[in-house]
Amino acid sequence: MLERIAAKDFTVGIIGLGYVGLPLALEFVENGIKVVGFELDGRKCEFLKAGKSYIKHIPTERIAHAAASGLLDATTDFDRLAEPDALLIAVPTPLNTHREPDLEPVVKATEAIATRLRKGQLVVLESTTYPGTVDEVMRPILEKASGLSAEKDFWLAFSPEREDPNNPSFNTRTIPKVVGGHTPEATALAKAVYDHVIVKTVPVSSTRAAEATKLLENIYRSVNIAMINELKMVFDRMGIDVWEVVEAARTKPFGFQAFYPGPGLGGHCIPIDPFYLTWKAKEFDINTRFIELAGEINTAMPEYVVNRAMHALNEQCRSIKGSRVLLLGMAYKKNIDDMRESPSIKLVELLLKMGAVVDYHDPFIPVYHDEHGADIHMSSVPLTPEVLEAHDWVLISTDHDDVDYAMVVKHSTLVVDTRNATKAIAEGRERIYKA
Ligand SMILES: NC(=O)c1ccc[n+]([C@@H]2O[C@H](COP(=O)([O-])OP(=O)(O)OC[C@H]3O[C@@H](n4cnc5c(N)ncnc54)[C@H](O)[C@@H]3O)[C@@H](O)[C@H]2O)c1
Repeated sequence: MLERIAAKDFTVGIIGLGYVGLPLALEFVENGIKVVGFELDGRKCEFLKAGKSYIKHIPTERIAHAAASGLLDATTDFDRLAEPDALLIAVPTPLNTHREPDLEPVVKATEAIATRLRKGQLVVLESTTYPGTVDEVMRPILEKASGLSAEKDFWLAFSPEREDPNNPSFNTRTIPKVVGGHTPEATALAKAVYDHVIVKTVPVSSTRAAEATKLLENIYRSVNIAMINELKMVFDRMGIDVWEVVEAARTKPFGFQAFYPGPGLGGHCIPIDPFYLTWKAKEFDINTRFIELAGEINTAMPEYVVNRAMHALNEQCRSIKGSRVLLLGMAYKKNIDDMRESPSIKLVELLLKMGAVVDYHDPFIPVYHDEHGADIHMSSVPLTPEVLEAHDWVLISTDHDDVDYAMVVKHSTLVVDTRNATKAIAEGRERIYKA
């Protein structure tokens, strides 16, 4: 198998063609390696077969090129799982309504593989999860249904995904990848597979070490973002601009990494992944207090922002109730079309509840339908002087680059800015209120 991998004489199967799976599939194809993508959503397979993209920051030309190469196939036919030599799983790992790990997609994907597993196949989980998932959840399913052993018949590993969609400095290829196998052979095989497409693979001693690495990275972000959000609230009260302080602090060449405050945490990862560890730690009688505290602070940020907006409006003898607000940015971070767990969702809910009339503009999110039962159906409104002037205030919740912030400030009575997106605007600063 190692020799075949070295000779690129192998096929990769990618289960789940979303934000993680699709770019990974493209890397293999662009390096001359055959890929079969397995997806529950048949529309995604159709898009790929037609050479079209369904993720805004992945250009259609890239998909068209991959489709034309004949190396990219996508299917909903899971019987074909026996074809690839290496199966990489990139399915969602959400929390359930009790904020506990929901491994259903991982289990479903594993079960689909288990009944088709053949000797010599490599199975790698990429989805973020708690330490022990591969060994305690996946391995028994695979071994029981197939009658094969992960010690000698097939190979099992974990390799966390570090994709940062639309990051201009790093992409799938240039982000080093950690790999931990169930056996040393599994680590070596997984490393050999990824070495074709990733600039550097970093082997660790076990699947658990690899699983824990990903959680450390995301908990580190969650805790530090909570810390800066807390400092923002303290500094606001003291009349100190937290953004100015971070910029000054980051001139220290060692021992400090800048984190920035915002309206709350968003995305499929940072607000969720830490709680995978919280859940698992309970089995060991340990409470993860840092994680809980960070979650508490970050979750409270939208309320804090609304409170600040209330003060800003109050200074103009107005209230949130009855005001027309234009929310700028539904995506959870700038320049992407992903609004999973976006704090903007919470902001819309809070403002509606308080009686505001809410519109939004987001060049990446043309329509928004609430999926949690609230009857909210909205479409992005155009960002024009007339639209701005028809609103009482603007709330910047995502700092997309292709928004003309000077124009926003010029044509608004009040701009509540949670991202410091207006930092370079000189004219009309008296109308900007940081929150
Ligand atoms: N999006 C990111 O930036 C990012 C970064 C690092 C890690 N991750 C992790 O990667 C994993 C995947 O995240 P994502 O953002 O790509 O999710 P996603 O929702 O964009 O994509 C997952 C895809 O898997 C498909 N799917 C679900 N169950 C399936 C099954 N049983 N068989 C086949 N397909 C199935 C879905 O239809 C979807 O297309 C998660 O664990 C996430 O935490 C994501």
